[in-house]
Parts: sequence; C-alpha cells; structure tokens
Amino acid sequence: MEVRRRSAKVVTFGCQMNERDSETIMGILSSLGFEESSRVEDADIVIFVTCCVRENAENRAFGNLGEMKRLKEGNPNLVVGMCGCMAQRSDLREIVRARMPWVNLVFGTHNIHRLPELLERVFAGERVVEVWDEPDEVVEGLPAVRAYGHKAFVNITYGCDNFCTYCIVPYVRGRERSRRMEDVVAEVCDLAGSGCVEVTLLGQNVNSYGRGLPPLPSGSSPDFADLLHEVNLVDGIRRIRFTTSHPRDFSDKMIEAVASSEKVCEHFHLPLQAGSDRVLEMMHRGYTAERYLALLDRIREAVPGASITTDIMVGFPGETEEDFQATMDVVRQARFDAAFTFIYSPRPGTVAARMPDQIEDEVKHDRVYRLIDLVNSIASEVNDELCGSIVEVMVEGPSERDPSVLSGRTRTNKMIHWTSEKAHNPGDIVMLRVSQTRTWTLYGEEIEGRSGYRGALTCDGHEAAGEEMQGRTASSSGFATDGRCDCNDV
Ligand code: 5AD
Ligand code: SF4
Repeated sequence: MEVRRRSAKVVTFGCQMNERDSETIMGILSSLGFEESSRVEDADIVIFVTCCVRENAENRAFGNLGEMKRLKEGNPNLVVGMCGCMAQRSDLREIVRARMPWVNLVFGTHNIHRLPELLERVFAGERVVEVWDEPDEVVEGLPAVRAYGHKAFVNITYGCDNFCTYCIVPYVRGRERSRRMEDVVAEVCDLAGSGCVEVTLLGQNVNSYGRGLPPLPSGSSPDFADLLHEVNLVDGIRRIRFTTSHPRDFSDKMIEAVASSEKVCEHFHLPLQAGSDRVLEMMHRGYTAERYLALLDRIREAVPGASITTDIMVGFPGETEEDFQATMDVVRQARFDAAFTFIYSPRPGTVAARMPDQIEDEVKHDRVYRLIDLVNSIASEVNDELCGSIVEVMVEGPSERDPSVLSGRTRTNKMIHWTSEKAHNPGDIVMLRVSQTRTWTLYGEEIEGRSGYRGALTCDGHEAAGEEMQGRTASSSGFATDGRCDCNDV
C-alpha cells in the first residue's frame, strides 16, 4: 500500500535503554520512508517510548498521550503510538485502550522489529495492540537513526534476572539475554567507521554480560572483562563507557579490565540503593554496606582518580530513621561524585509493593531533601579538589545556555564548560585546566597539552620538555593521579 505519511517524531521517556530503542524505532521509520520531525505538531506519526520505573514517569507519559487528542482532532490521519515499558503492563494498556481512543498503535519492548507490519495494519485502518509477554531471541541487524554522530549507545544485554523487590524492570524488559560478543564488536566497528569516537555499553547489569553465551575457544563463556578488552581494540574509538553496574557482580577481573584498557573511562555508576543491611536484604540486592564500600576501595586503588556515581532510594517499606541514617553514613564514607536520588514508588506486581509498613509521603520527602543536601555538599567538595587539575575533555558542542561557551565531558563524566578561540567539533578531544568548580559542573581553560588515552596528563611545561605520561604511572612521573600536575610549574 502507498504510504503517504512522511514525517515521524519519537518521544522518549526514561533511561538510556529507551533512548537506544527510540533510535531503532526511528531507524525502522526512516527505512519506511519517514523523515525525522523535530516537533510533535509537524509529524504524521508520533510514537511515545514510555517508562514505568516510578509512578511519576507514568504520569508524564499519560499526560503527553492525553495531549495528542487535540492534535488528532486537527489531523485525523495522525498515527499515535505507544510502546516501551508501560506498554508491557496489561493494566496500563487497558487504560489506553479504554480511555484513549486516539492512540491507534501499542507495541512492547520485545517486538519493536515488528513495527513495519504493525504500521501497515494501522494504515489499513486497524487499531493495533501487539505486545509480547516474553522476548524472542535477540534480534540483530535492525536499522537505527543515531541521536549523535560522535557518541553512541550499544546494547550488550537486554532484560534483567535480578528481581530487586522494588523494581519493575524484570517484568517489563524480560529475562536477561546477552548479545554475542562478535555482534557487539561489529556494531562498535561500524560506529567507528562512521566517525563515532565514544561508545557507552548498555545493560541493566553489564557485569553479568555473557551468561548463557556459547563458550570461547578457551572453554569459558565470555564475560564483561573479555568484552571490554575486545571493544578496547576497535580502531577509531577513543572512549568506552558502560552502565549500569551491579555492585554484587563487579569482580576483580572486571576492575582489572577497566584499569588496563586505556580507552575505558574511569567512571563507575554503582547503584547503592540503601546503606542499611536490613533494607538491602529486603531489597534483595545481594551485598552489604561493608561489601559495597570495600568494592569502592578496590576500584579506587586499581583505577586512581575514578569517579563514582550512584542511585539511592529513600522510603523503602519499613525503612526507619535509623536505616536512613545508615544510608547517610555510607554516603559520607563513599564520597560519591554524584548521586541520583529517588523516592521509593510502589510498583504494581513487585514484592515490595505488597510489603507492610509503606512509608508516608511526608517522611519520604523529608528524607530525600536531607539526602540531597548531603550528596550535594560532598559532590561540591569532591569537585573543589579538582580545581587546578588538567583533564582530558571530549567536546560535546556549544553549551545549551550560552552558545559562545563550549561544553564537554571529562573521562570521569563530569560536565565542563569553557571558551575557546578554536573551532571545535563534537568528539574532538582537548586538554583543559580546571579553573572553577560547582556542585555539578566544572569550568576550565584550554591548554596546549597533548591529549591521549587515560588522560595522557601533559601540562604546558612538561609538554615543552617533551614529556608525556599515562595515568597508570602518574604518581611516579610527577603527576598526581587525579590529573593535577605535581610539578607546580604550571
Ligand atoms: N521506586 C523508586 N526508585 C526506583 N528505582 C527503581 N525502581 C524504583 C522504585 N520502585 C530507581 C533505582 C534504580 C534507578 C534506575 O531507579 O534507584 O537504580
Ligand atoms: Fe531493577 Fe535490580 Fe534489575 Fe536494576 S538490577 S533493573 S534495580 S531488578
């Protein structure tokens, strides 16, 4: 049938998995002849990729879907689609089916590849709802319209088998599946071939990568450390990031792989969730506060200058003030570079939603404000210590607030702003000296240092003297391991 609709907008809520799914959805739409529209108002197809990890994410998606009613009144041919994690939930699908007749396509997280056929049925006048409860095998080779040229997300695992008691992800993203190592590496090579310099390896729990994959010639299944080593070999890629790590599964072998792979950035996102062992146990997290802190020590020893960020939740059922104080204590000891803080939100169908002693909203809010204050004051102190240091920065582009200012990211994933006389493009690597710090951002000045992997920490003076060093041997070469030059000449 002739497809006359020509422009499409994919609106994404939620995590990086969803962002990556949106790229695939736009890739499929593009292969069907649709152009990407920058505005919902101009599009012939609008697809919402939804998130249900907390109730407020759901409310936002419903609000947006609701607004589409008005657009549909002005343009009856508009196709409105809903997919992603909310679509996996039968109760939410039912709300859409019964109360939002203007939504004419619903599909799930496991059948994105079926979009061409589903759309054909929609264009033939059918209202289509197709959601698979279980995933099929991993589908490879789907097209993607990437959000950026210089950096990209690369899935390494899908789904999650952990069943943390508060979390809906295992129910909506299915059981854990790993992509074959050769498929991951091939995707990274393709990206590098098209000019991408930074990849972020994505999984709900990257550390369990490889479970269930066929064994390597050595006889063992590949694991995350093996994958890091392989991706590190891809020419053209300059930075490798990964998220999310599970503190329970971060082995010494994996820490060593990060330490020895020069392109792998020294940033670890390690969700703590809570600092009380009683609460961690009720959450089914599989570690204690002590083990978590010991992991941070091992990481900081093996990867000097590493930044560590986290997710923390307050108000889990039964959390007492004493439990909350245990979380505050771990935060004080861990000295996180940054933390995402969440108020526990009961998710239908999860074990924790059925637990007694759900905490009142007022108590949850009070705790989260106290936690945010502590996290911010520590983040600000940690950043203060970076003042004067020399950092390797990847250019992201003009700052959103002020186009005359450039924004970039350090290897430790900190946002930094500076002005430059030079014309820089996204993906360029420059060396900056940190001149000012704020809680969440750094400000810097460009210097003539040579860049290199693992922050070849070259200051002006040493550069002139022809010296260059790599972070691994930093302290023995006159450079502090956080990138500050010990020589005091610069
Ligand atoms: N309520 C609040 N926060 C949650 N998260 C996951 N499930 C919930 C929930 N039910 C948080 C966790 C996780 C992050 C992505 O979202 O901290 O690490
Ligand atoms: Fe959810 Fe736990 Fe899986 Fe993370 S590891 S997605 S918090 S169940």
